[in-house]
Amino acid sequence: MGGQPLYLEPRLGSRLGSLLESPRLLHSLTDALGSPLNVVIPDQIADNVEQFRSVYARHHLSGQVFFAHKANRSSALLRRLATTDAGVDVASLGELQHALGAGFTPDRITATGPKNPEFLWLAARTSVTVSVDSRGELDQLAALVRRFGLPRVRVLLRLSGFEASGVRVLSRRSRFGTPVRAAPSLLEAVESHRDAVEPVGVAYHLDTTSVDEKATALEGCLRVLEECRDRGLRPRAVDVGGGFGLDYLADGEQWQRYTSALTDAVLGIRPPMTWGGHGYGLRNEGGTLRGALGLYPAHRPVAGTRYLDELLAHAAPSLGGRPLGSLLVEHLYDLHTEPGRALLDQCGLTLAKVLEVREPEPGGELHVRLAANAGDIGLEEHGVLLDPVVVPRAGGTPAGSGTGEAPVAVHLFGSLCLESDLITRRTVFLPRRPEPGDLMAFVNTAGYCMDFHATLAQRQPVARKVAAWQEDGAWHWCLDDQYWPTTSVGGAQ
Ligand SMILES: Cc1ncc(COP(=O)(O)O)c(C=O)c1O
Repeated sequence: MGGQPLYLEPRLGSRLGSLLESPRLLHSLTDALGSPLNVVIPDQIADNVEQFRSVYARHHLSGQVFFAHKANRSSALLRRLATTDAGVDVASLGELQHALGAGFTPDRITATGPKNPEFLWLAARTSVTVSVDSRGELDQLAALVRRFGLPRVRVLLRLSGFEASGVRVLSRRSRFGTPVRAAPSLLEAVESHRDAVEPVGVAYHLDTTSVDEKATALEGCLRVLEECRDRGLRPRAVDVGGGFGLDYLADGEQWQRYTSALTDAVLGIRPPMTWGGHGYGLRNEGGTLRGALGLYPAHRPVAGTRYLDELLAHAAPSLGGRPLGSLLVEHLYDLHTEPGRALLDQCGLTLAKVLEVREPEPGGELHVRLAANAGDIGLEEHGVLLDPVVVPRAGGTPAGSGTGEAPVAVHLFGSLCLESDLITRRTVFLPRRPEPGDLMAFVNTAGYCMDFHATLAQRQPVARKVAAWQEDGAWHWCLDDQYWPTTSVGGAQ
């Protein structure tokens, strides 16, 4: 196999851990419903909302946690969420209809993202809050309100292009939001549309893992709110978007070992660790390492609620160096968040059946073909590297790295007739050789890696989805569409 196995074992909470210890259930589900199969755990999203709420409580903050629906299409997750005090951030007409149908009242819905006229109209008609992306969108919304005689629409003004005070460092470039330097003219437009819109706050969403960049944006939003007050406007919320992230791995040292070995492999110091010597953004130029590792930081100890905590504790240099959380409290501003991936932590997994195991060269890396394609398991697409858990057909517990059986190196291929259909380009190490009929469980796929990229390519079916919950010490399940809060005891409480 060449060298020590380099595992990237997934972090498993108690629910996913328990599910993986139920091989009979997982095999009968895939036997009945096919492979790939997605399993979501509605009760987990409710617990995750509580975790976010506890950060609000610690900082004495009011405001709303809006789940970014785009991260998963599940009805079960949304309906279970409707039983909590969370809201939902919808980014399309379909998501808005879905949220209304799942039981969210309009005061618990925010419409974000690029919007077509139908989406804007339904948002305005049902009185959901609209996060306005640009001056043009504001004008369009105001025109719709007047034309159809609709009630005034609550709007958040989405901003971008923030600048740290005193330093000419712009935050990440974004397609979305009005550049903060154009805020004065946007506010003038809001004033001119007073009859049609009511400004309730400002917003941003930055696609970055950097707390500093987000703190700069939040500080910039606080300054714009001051400007609003100077103009006699009374917005009282800041929506800091999503991007709190998720820690996928059980062991940070495995991540360190893996990434330094990958660097060595790119430099030719050790054998390749990927299909075709792919470097995940790194390259060897005459013995010098170039490029940047284009991977999600799968080991992220400060993710999710800890990330929010850190952002709120961050000082605002242009506002007396006070922590951002304290400034929000002092001004009686509401804090809105829109976590997607972070709220879906431990909320699901994707199962794929092993169809074939080949050994092209004796003792070499195995070629394992799965009944799923790369679009069904979007971990690689999102740059998330983590090992699947093998659930043997023959029963018994899933193969952990301590089983004592010989580890193997494998390449995981998808079911499409395409050279590029690799579940991952990484050589994956497994604690023992998989067999046809075994299942591979890809853990923590609920955030973007479950249904976001799934297609009907080659007329192969997309994964079905089931909701699973624990009741009376046993696992129960139903099709995702069939789940309502009254279905499970946990949900009905
Ligand atoms: C406006 C907005 N809010 C929230 C999110 C959710 O981000 P995440 O899943 O990283 O928390 C996104 C993601 O694209 C977004 O565009």
